[in-house]
Amino acid sequence: MDIFIEDDYSGMSRKACKLVADYIGKNPRALVSFPGGTTPEGFVNEFVTMVNNDAVDISQTRYVSLDEWVGLSAVDEGSCGHFNMTNLINRLKKPFAEVHLIDGAAKDIQEERRSLDRYIAGRGPLGVSVLGIGLNGHLGFNEEGVPPDSDALVLPLSATTKKVMGKYFGNKFSPDFGITQGLGQIMQAGMIVLLANGSHKAGILRRAFKGPVTPDVPASILQTHPKVMVGADRDAAAGFRD
Ligand code: PGA
Repeated sequence: MDIFIEDDYSGMSRKACKLVADYIGKNPRALVSFPGGTTPEGFVNEFVTMVNNDAVDISQTRYVSLDEWVGLSAVDEGSCGHFNMTNLINRLKKPFAEVHLIDGAAKDIQEERRSLDRYIAGRGPLGVSVLGIGLNGHLGFNEEGVPPDSDALVLPLSATTKKVMGKYFGNKFSPDFGITQGLGQIMQAGMIVLLANGSHKAGILRRAFKGPVTPDVPASILQTHPKVMVGADRDAAAGFRD
């Protein structure tokens, strides 16, 4: 595991973008996955700028989303799909070869889950997986206790996730479940870039990357992946100090 610590959020976002762009440069047909949330906004901005300036060519690259709130789709503000469309997909002057967004509002959510599995199995494994980390150590919606080797899952949201979800969509929605790539799919990625910024993420970075590998902290499984880059700003990186 490599850790990169940058002075601030912009530096962390730029560095992450460079890592991903380099990976795509070497693996143009890769399947890539970025998260929603507040953490990746800067990274995604950088990425869009690079693509639009022809600094990275994604014409053969495929994109799959990481997760979605069950009941919400890309039309719902605050959803992961909405984040993907407004921050990334709709701003690209040159599109990805393919985009597969998870529809959390699908009538048959288990079929939607199977469709995600089929997509990743058919185009995968993942090349790059960019991740945020929840305050409980979740990756996507892989909450505490999930098996480390599973395909896509529909899972109840943890109390921690429910506590923070208002920051995305106020009290307009109150989802109880998430649909997410499974840890097994994430762990097959050629390279994983996990980002965390802000002092509120220091404690969970410490638990995930300085503590034992345990299902109680889903992100801790990343310690066993051969190519993980953990990026933090100074505030979050306080978690790595003893
Ligand atoms: P955040 O969410 O980027 O909005 O902090 C991270 C996560 O819950 O995975």
